[in-house]
Amino acid sequence: DTLGKTITCLAAIAWKTNSSLSLEEVQVEPPKAGEVRIKMISTGICGSDDHAIKGIIPLKYPFIPGHEGAGIVESIGEGVSSVKPGDKVLTLIVPQCRECSACLNPKGNFCEKQDILPSSGLMLDGTSRFTCKGEKIYHSFRTSTFSEYTVVPEISVVKIDAAAPMDKICVISCEVPTGYGAAVHSAKVTPGSTCVVFGLGGIGSAIVMGCKASGASRIIGVDINEEKFPRARALGVTDCLNPSNLKKPVQEAVKEMTGIGVDFAFEAIGLAETMVAAWDSCHVSHGVCIIIGVSPPNSKFSLSAQTVSTGRTLKGVCLGDYKTKDCFPQLVTAYLQNKINIDPLITHQLPFDQLHKAFELYHAGKTIRCVLLF
Ligand code: APR
Ligand code: ZN
Repeated sequence: DTLGKTITCLAAIAWKTNSSLSLEEVQVEPPKAGEVRIKMISTGICGSDDHAIKGIIPLKYPFIPGHEGAGIVESIGEGVSSVKPGDKVLTLIVPQCRECSACLNPKGNFCEKQDILPSSGLMLDGTSRFTCKGEKIYHSFRTSTFSEYTVVPEISVVKIDAAAPMDKICVISCEVPTGYGAAVHSAKVTPGSTCVVFGLGGIGSAIVMGCKASGASRIIGVDINEEKFPRARALGVTDCLNPSNLKKPVQEAVKEMTGIGVDFAFEAIGLAETMVAAWDSCHVSHGVCIIIGVSPPNSKFSLSAQTVSTGRTLKGVCLGDYKTKDCFPQLVTAYLQNKINIDPLITHQLPFDQLHKAFELYHAGKTIRCVLLF
């Protein structure tokens, strides 16, 4: 029985910037008031975890990465009412506190209690629940799912349907809302419309699925890794562009292909350059440019000011604009009812202790999503 006790288990630690993760024995303290301890079942490797490990999203070292997680509640702290031991849950990289200015507004979802930008690496009370060899280990995004057990605030976890397949459902914690949600919920892609998706990784693939499900007539996929093209085509991409093989800027190519520019452009890479290309690819009048990729802290882009006044929209979207605690269980239910198919978004599954192999596959550009199983 682990109730009220510190648990010793396996976790991945990023000790310093840009080093490879090490698998270590860690101590995970019991949850304090308003917190939940989770036994992880599956976790995906997301571009944002890679950004965090590389220092592109600045976190405090040493930390335990991971945010796209599914697990079972092991124990709860005082006052926790929305989950109980034994519940199947998803971790939430963006919490929903229901009290802050962001949560109280019907639009948007970037709860003030988030711990991404900036990141403290600590729980809401300013302390950590992890130690390794006597040293304090920081949390990442208050989720730290690359661990057999993790502790998260109650606002960063949500109960899901007991019928959910736990070896796959973790992608509904990030990849599916971030990509599919950006297309269907945030942009509201319209039937017959034209779309361009920059980046055909996990998020880009989910965007393509959302565009296709919304009835887009043309979906142009852009990536520098042509290995991504066959899977992207299978998901609904109609035309593939590799910017490194073009003699002109990619936005010029997109404009030529569509006559004047696309109705919807999505950026899922996290580079200022591709964000500008996405903007310039948009229809002069009603084009909507959606920025999803997270870029380095000091990165800036500039747009020709004249291109703004004609009517285009620029919008940043995090997790498809879904209020996470309210909406993620509904996405799980939609999957169970065969309304969303998440299966093609998972290309690899490996045991957690093969994390290094999983990152090798990710860095080699071989994966859409690799899910680690505990
Ligand atoms: N031009 C075109 N494509 C590029 C470029 C570029 N300059 N640089 C990288 N890519 C492609 C990669 O080849 C890869 O297919 O972008 C894709 C990125 O996909 P992943 O690494 O799988 O990352 P993903 O999980 O999809 O996240 C993408 O969204 O959540 C954010 O922080 C995350 O910014 C990241 C982005
Ligand atoms: Zn993510």
